[in-house]
Amino acid sequence: MAAATKALTFVLILACFIEVSQLHEEQSPADKYKDPDGGDQETCSKDGQVGGECQFVEAKLTRLDGVKVGHEQTVELVPGKTHYLKTLNMKPLIFEIDGFLSDEECDHIIALAEKQGLRSSLTKPQGIQHHIKIYDFDGDKHLTYNEMRITIESAFDIYMVEDELKEVYAELKLDKNEDGLISQEELSGISSQKFAEFLINWVNENPELRSRYSEQAWIYPNDVKDDIVDEFQKRIYHLLELPRPLIDKFNTFQVVKYGIKGHYNAHIDSGDNLELPCCHLTDSERCRSCRYVTVMVYLNDVEEGGETAFPVANNETVSADALHKGPLLNLNRHCKDANLLVKPEKGKAVVWYSHFIDEETGWLGPIDEFTWHGGCPVTKGTKWIANRWINVSKNKEVDLKSSQV
Ligand code: OGA
Ligand code: FE2
Repeated sequence: MAAATKALTFVLILACFIEVSQLHEEQSPADKYKDPDGGDQETCSKDGQVGGECQFVEAKLTRLDGVKVGHEQTVELVPGKTHYLKTLNMKPLIFEIDGFLSDEECDHIIALAEKQGLRSSLTKPQGIQHHIKIYDFDGDKHLTYNEMRITIESAFDIYMVEDELKEVYAELKLDKNEDGLISQEELSGISSQKFAEFLINWVNENPELRSRYSEQAWIYPNDVKDDIVDEFQKRIYHLLELPRPLIDKFNTFQVVKYGIKGHYNAHIDSGDNLELPCCHLTDSERCRSCRYVTVMVYLNDVEEGGETAFPVANNETVSADALHKGPLLNLNRHCKDANLLVKPEKGKAVVWYSHFIDEETGWLGPIDEFTWHGGCPVTKGTKWIANRWINVSKNKEVDLKSSQV
């Protein structure tokens, strides 16, 4: 068999190996949408209530004001009841609201998800990979543990630390001279097929090595027609004060269940590959999430673990490249190194904005790179959350149209 097909191909990856697009570069023009029917723009309601074909010329995204860490403001989410919106952090801006949902409401949403049926949350297809991109950053044709770790993370969505890699090397007799480096020659001793099969087997036996280890269900408010789901929806609207169509049109939310060792490695809830269409506006699988703000509610008290971690909160110096090359995104192993941890408490909501607002358009701006976050491993008990994302694209007109695409 040709060496080229037998061995893994060495690809030299220069700096920026994972493309973190400079969102700042893509600024949509100062769109001034016109009413196609020539209607009077003055009649456009500011809160974006659907009114004829009004195109919401003046509509803008809103962002709650954090003021400073520890600041508390009252919000009326339910008539006659006061909730407290507390600023947990400024960079990124994070709020928490105790009792956003009552205990009964939380139990009800869990029951809805169970009734619907939960499925394993896989972030990437688990098929066998034949072409594995090798991250030999310095091009010396010898993979360090870190280079091998990143290679395996990228190709297989398997997150290992050095000791686990050593076990893999021993099982595969990969590091023949035991110098801790895998040379091109050592690597060519195993076919990429065999390497892939071994790793997929390995992760099936150790599913907690995946970037995400949980189960999930999607709730469709328009289908379930449920009073508590509608109430959840209303509270989101009262809290965020965003144009109404943004809340009403794409109102699906996700319920996630984590068992022991369940976790979710650090990620940003919104995608940065501007070449792809927004998932909420296309049927294509090749799409990016376009999520302006996240409202995540803990649906139970977790006995131990399961905090939400923000590994680079307030970290002004870390670059996206350094972050990917370093260990911090692996929350399965490095939660305790995160700069900010939020403890799950039944009914508590945590809110953060994955994007800033574009000053010119008043609409979706650049990603807030401080919002890297994820779920720490549950070490005792179970953890349930509800994720409600508000989808916003770069196109105000499309987002605010009364009907879906
Ligand atoms: C998510 C997420 C964090 C957590 O589901 O997108 O970031 O604490 N979850 O489970
Ligand atoms: Fe998330």
